[in-house]
Amino acid sequence: MLFELLKKRRSIRKFQGKSVEVEKLETILRAGLISPSGKNKKPWKFVVVDDGIKLDKLSKAKPAGGQLVKGAPVAVVVLGEAEKSDTWLEDCSIALTFMQLEAEEQGLKSCWVQIDKRPSEDGRGADVIVKEILGIEGDLKVLAILAMGYPEEERPFYTEDDMDFSKVHYNTYGTSYKIK
Ligand SMILES: Cc1cc2nc3c(=O)[nH]c(=O)nc-3n(C[C@H](O)[C@H](O)[C@H](O)COP(=O)(O)O)c2cc1C
Repeated sequence: MLFELLKKRRSIRKFQGKSVEVEKLETILRAGLISPSGKNKKPWKFVVVDDGIKLDKLSKAKPAGGQLVKGAPVAVVVLGEAEKSDTWLEDCSIALTFMQLEAEEQGLKSCWVQIDKRPSEDGRGADVIVKEILGIEGDLKVLAILAMGYPEEERPFYTEDDMDFSKVHYNTYGTSYKIK
């Protein structure tokens, strides 16, 4: 069952105007909140954004690759508490992925929009811009924005052809894994 969900998950960048039901959004947030983390420190904060003006501003936080946020009815900005854990990046990435998969399970589509390490047009960094938009002061990291909603475009499901088994090695690196 999970594998079927994984195969149909694709990044979607065009959304219908329809808003996301609160129950669905809250299930997605719950999925993030129970994701695993190093030493169970849960070094994350999530900011739910459904304010159109803020979504518009967030979509311009970096010069390219973020425009889709503007067209999404809702987004979750994933923030990391680096001072709390040296695995914040891994933990927050897993939390975001859990939310992305739960969004899929809820019949929604989504796209990860990277903010960490991305520049902004004015050279201050996309994270600085996002923090300004959301009123964040202090040391929080900004990993990414998970934009989601009902899809306005379709993308093909993954098939066997997309699974590159040459990336899998067996016992010794360089020894290919024989597919059964
Ligand atoms: C770490 C990470 C950062 C990403 N950043 C962006 C982004 O800034 N903008 C965007 O449109 N897609 C972004 N994506 C989505 C990828 O482009 C997408 O996952 C990839 O092309 C594979 O397509 P799929 O998600 O449909 O399998 C990101 C994905 C990951 C995992």
